[in-house]
Amino acid sequence: MVGLSPMGDDRGTLIAIEAGRQIPFDIQRVYYVFDTKTGVSRGFHAHHALRQFLVAVSGSCTLAVDDGTSRDELRLDNPAIGLRIDGLVWREMRDFSSDCVLMVLADRHYEEADYIRDYDEFTAAVRKLAE
Ligand code: TYD
Repeated sequence: MVGLSPMGDDRGTLIAIEAGRQIPFDIQRVYYVFDTKTGVSRGFHAHHALRQFLVAVSGSCTLAVDDGTSRDELRLDNPAIGLRIDGLVWREMRDFSSDCVLMVLADRHYEEADYIRDYDEFTAAVRKLAE
């Protein structure tokens, strides 16, 4: 988890995220997930190479991150907190609040070939990396 610096004044709050500062990579893509329907879970994949930085800029959701040996569950509910995901990590997202806007900054364009969408394939890739 990375704390971001809110710049607040009597008008409200602003947070800036800059490549090479709060996040250690050049941003090639930004996408955001919103209007997620009640009870929906998303993700269920890992990436071979992609690096990401996630911020719930509005609302909240739960993120499960699994490195093949242990799983952590994190509640993203603060626009001043970001989560870095690097390396082989299986992620699942659920319990989206109706106002959740989950913004993702990424260091690569969308490439389906970078996805691992099968959990057994993911654990095999983790074992191979550890050899
Ligand atoms: P998907 O990977 O299923 O989303 P999630 O991991 O959140 O469940 O992506 C949904 C669709 O959007 C899928 O058809 C791929 C497409 N997509 C893009 O075209 N560009 C992107 O940057 C992303 C993340 C997805």
